[in-house]
Amino acid sequence: MKILVTGGAGFIGSNFVHYLRKNYPDYQITVVDKLNQQGNIENLRPIMEEIAFHEFDLVEESKLLPIFEAGLDYVVHFAAETNVDRSIEDPDNFVSSNVLATNILLRLSRDHGVKRFHHVSTDEVFGSLELGTDDKFNETTPYDPRSPYSATKAASDHLVRSYFHTYQLDVTISNCSNNYGPYQVPENIVPVFTLMALNDKPLTIYGDGKSVRDYLFVLDHCRAIDLILHKGKAGETYCVGGGQEQNGIQIANSVLSITSKSTDLKKFVTDRPGHDRRYAIDYSKLEKELGYKPSVTFEEGLRQTIDWYQQNEEWWKPYMERFYVPQFMKEDVE
Ligand SMILES: NC(=O)c1ccc[n+]([C@@H]2O[C@H](COP(=O)([O-])OP(=O)(O)OC[C@H]3O[C@@H](n4cnc5c(N)ncnc54)[C@H](O)[C@@H]3O)[C@@H](O)[C@H]2O)c1
Repeated sequence: MKILVTGGAGFIGSNFVHYLRKNYPDYQITVVDKLNQQGNIENLRPIMEEIAFHEFDLVEESKLLPIFEAGLDYVVHFAAETNVDRSIEDPDNFVSSNVLATNILLRLSRDHGVKRFHHVSTDEVFGSLELGTDDKFNETTPYDPRSPYSATKAASDHLVRSYFHTYQLDVTISNCSNNYGPYQVPENIVPVFTLMALNDKPLTIYGDGKSVRDYLFVLDHCRAIDLILHKGKAGETYCVGGGQEQNGIQIANSVLSITSKSTDLKKFVTDRPGHDRRYAIDYSKLEKELGYKPSVTFEEGLRQTIDWYQQNEEWWKPYMERFYVPQFMKEDVE
């Protein structure tokens, strides 16, 4: 099987490429990644000889075309601009990568007989849930994106569905919750808190620290995509969650406890504009139809993740020199 993984040098994409090498050693894997602030070629270094890697922006259609002309069975589309804070500062870039590039990939997939196009999306397209309720997002939840990031992901989901209905392209979509695990750049809560704790720096908690997210260990996410790609029904959407709801204060406390650091390292900072209060995922469709179940608790996954960061200092050290601080937080940390 010939498979194109877009965004395969990013956090989840690179974990998925490693997963494919291990579980489908006969697959011919091509990765396209423009290596933005989140993309890191080091994520693929150990398997570089075993895959075909191309560095370019997916909107450069002339560079993409020969890959499709050579024949592809599957496309798994991870590539996207993903940082919500960056989307507030520079939405244009998000429209290009998340919407325009997705349309180019869909059109080329349609025209070159791709057997399945799997689109990786987010639960952020559904908006926000109330704190203190048991409500959860599922496949029938209406779209209500709040940030330029989630709005562009919502647009791309609609485009993917339109190619199924209009052109009968075989597509599947997954909307997943917050991932954590190895190779995540310190722009998301788990790696930021981990690296701050390991370096005895303050753990900056947005707002009151009570916003809740569902946490999904990245290898469970890779298993879910494997199931959907190989066994999912064409045209269907599947919600993927970890079943582990946590707020910012809880995560800070867990990281400080696992790393044996003082709880005094917690620091509350200005909240993100339009910060959604709660996300939770009902993954029962994926469980019932394809047999998915998350394999680790948040506590176990967090220990494994912190262990990975402790053992891979050479990977994260460069990020400490160019730490990204969102505009709205600048005064708090200066
Ligand atoms: N990380 C999460 O918690 C999470 C949650 C829900 C959904 N998702 C979705 O999963 C996918 C992967 O997320 P991630 O956390 O690995 O993101 P990431 O930012 O770590 O990786 C994205 C990769 O895509 C590449 N890329 C972006 N635009 C590109 C373009 N125009 N051309 C070529 N390459 C491009 C980047 O260089 C980067 O390597 C995204 O589509 C995201 O929306 C992520």
